[in-house]
This record gives sequence, C-alpha cells and structure tokens, in this order.
Amino acid sequence: MTPALEVASLAVTFAGERGPVVAVEDVSLRVAKGRTLCVVGESGSGKSVSILATMGLLDPERATVQAAALRLADVDLLALPPARRRAINGDRLAMVFQDPMTSLNPYLRIGTQLTEVLEVHRKSSRKDAEQQAIAMLEAVGISAPHARMRAYPHELSGGMRQRVVLAMALLCQPDVLLADEPTTALDVTIQAQVLKLIQDLQARTEMAVVLVTHDMGVVAHMADDVAVLYGGVVVERAAVAELFARPRHPYTRALLASIPAAEHRGQRLQAIAGTPPSALTRPPGCVFAPRCAFAAAICLTGRPPQEALSPDQTVRCFRHAELADA
Ligand SMILES: Nc1ncnc2c1ncn2[C@@H]1O[C@H](COP(=O)(O)OP(=O)(O)OP(=O)(O)O)[C@@H](O)[C@H]1O
Ligand SMILES: [Mg+2]
Repeated sequence: MTPALEVASLAVTFAGERGPVVAVEDVSLRVAKGRTLCVVGESGSGKSVSILATMGLLDPERATVQAAALRLADVDLLALPPARRRAINGDRLAMVFQDPMTSLNPYLRIGTQLTEVLEVHRKSSRKDAEQQAIAMLEAVGISAPHARMRAYPHELSGGMRQRVVLAMALLCQPDVLLADEPTTALDVTIQAQVLKLIQDLQARTEMAVVLVTHDMGVVAHMADDVAVLYGGVVVERAAVAELFARPRHPYTRALLASIPAAEHRGQRLQAIAGTPPSALTRPPGCVFAPRCAFAAAICLTGRPPQEALSPDQTVRCFRHAELADA
C-alpha cells in the first residue's frame, strides 16, 4: 500500500560559520494511513530538522535539503512548485511545532487565526469557520471557547497555547500530522487528553501521525512504529512491540535499559554515558561507536549500511547479527 507519507534518505546541511553543519545525514520515515510513527532520540539528534525539512520550512538560503523521495501519498513533494507546496501545508499536511509561539501571530486574536485557516484552505464562510473553530477549541479541552476566540496568544497559558496550535493543525483534518513534542509542555492530564484527541481523530479520519517525543510512555501508548534517531541517522526502525521486546541496535538497547518502567514519563532521553556527536564533529565510522559498549574495529571503518530485517524493521549496526544472541 502507498504510505500516507514517505521520506527517503533525507539529508540536511546548514551553512555554519565554521563550515557546513550536517544536521541530518540519512533519515527515512514512512507512515501509513491511520497509523502513528513515533520518532525518538536525544536532543540534537535531528528530529525537529527532519520534520521541518519534510514540511519544506527550512530557509533554502541557509539549509541544503536533499532526499531520494518525499511523497505525500501519490504527490511528489520534491517536484511541486513552491506555491503548490505551501498550499498543501496546513491543509493535507499539518504541523505542530515544539514551541507554540512559532505558529501563532502575537498580534491577532486566537479566533481570527483559527478561522483564517478554514477560510483560506476550505473557503469556508466566516460563520461556518467560527463554529468549527469553537468546536475544535472545545475538543482540545479549552474551557469557555467562545470567550477564548477573542483572546490574544499572550493572554493564554503555555499549555493552552499548545492546545490552540493543535486545534489549528487539526481544523482541516489533515492526511498527515507532523507533531514535534506537542505535549511536552503540558501537564499529565492535559497531555493524555490531547493524545486521546489525536487518536480519536485518527480513528475517524485515518489521519497518519508522525509524533516526535522524548517520552517512552507516550511511545508505548501511541506508536505503531518507532524510528530511533541518533546523530542525524535512523539507527533502527521497528514496530513498537518488536522494538520494546527485541531492540536490535545497541543504542536502542541502551535507551530502553536506561528507562525504568515507572520513572520514564517526561524525562529526557540521555541516561547513556558520554555525549552525542555534534553536527560539526561526526565520527568517521558508525555514529554511535564512541559511546557503544559493543564497538569493535569494524565499527570505525565507515557508516554501517541500513539492513532490512523484515519489511517493518531496519537496523544500522555492523554487529547486530552477532549481538542478537548476546
Ligand atoms: N538553523 C540551524 N543552523 C545550524 N544548525 C542547526 C540549525 N537547526 C538545527 N541545527 C543543528 O542540527 C542538529 C539537529 O537539531 P534538531 O533541532 O533537529 O535536534 P532535535 O533532535 O530536535 O533536538 P531536541 O530534542 O533538543 O529538540 C543540532 O546539532 C542543531 O544544533
Ligand atoms: Mg527538536
């Protein structure tokens, strides 16, 4: 079946003052209709950059984006002229940013910003758009939605702003939602409510979701598949049950081992000794080798190839086969 979204071998390089910064080296993401792909990885591993590049939101003056393929169902996003690409954003392909103020205009009332989405993409009348916006604010758990429509972003709490942004992203019932840590700033009750809303909408509309998160509890709850990013590379991708039961990459193993079941909620993923590679100084071999408990001579010879263990599972590790029995 054609995936709802397919990103193949994405690479993103920024022009830095001290030379090119390879933020994302080789990231492939695929998510089917109605399914959720969780993207996990330490701070700086390239999660946000991958999402921004997929949305076509990186400044071409500063960032070089390359990909073998970038497709929204059967639409080749790489071949679309910029105006058509922009028209898809917010409509068939929607995004929730890590920081809600990125999506909100501080000078416009919430209601104006929400209704505008429907007026532009759906050509809705003002009255229809207002009704739908109020219903969506209610759905994301905002009390007194009528009154909130008249509020400016700064009059809302951070958690409320994030829910407004989610409402804005969901208004057009996108085919694919890219959500970059949409609930990290929310308290646990609201977080559960927002995740449930995403799931409900998915059940109704078959929306595909790419969810960036640091929270393995959220992964366990939401994911069908998981992509594990390390140093700008997807080191492992698997169905969630397989990943939790039999992680194949040493980084995934370390990641899961470092998260005690009861304590993992809300914590950043960084309980592994050593520091992740900076985008300026990538090791020549496997990106994880300097921190890997199983690194051997071969691991310093070059990047390990991506191997498919099954149609759903890929791993990038020279030693995965011998380690599987260890
Ligand atoms: N505009 C930019 N110019 C130069 N380098 C950048 C830029 N944006 C990101 N980077 C670099 O790219 C790498 C990946 O950054 P990214 O923001 O994608 O990480 P992340 O996985 O989202 O981290 P976090 O969990 O902290 O959000 C980092 O090394 C970062 O410093
Ligand atoms: Mg990020």
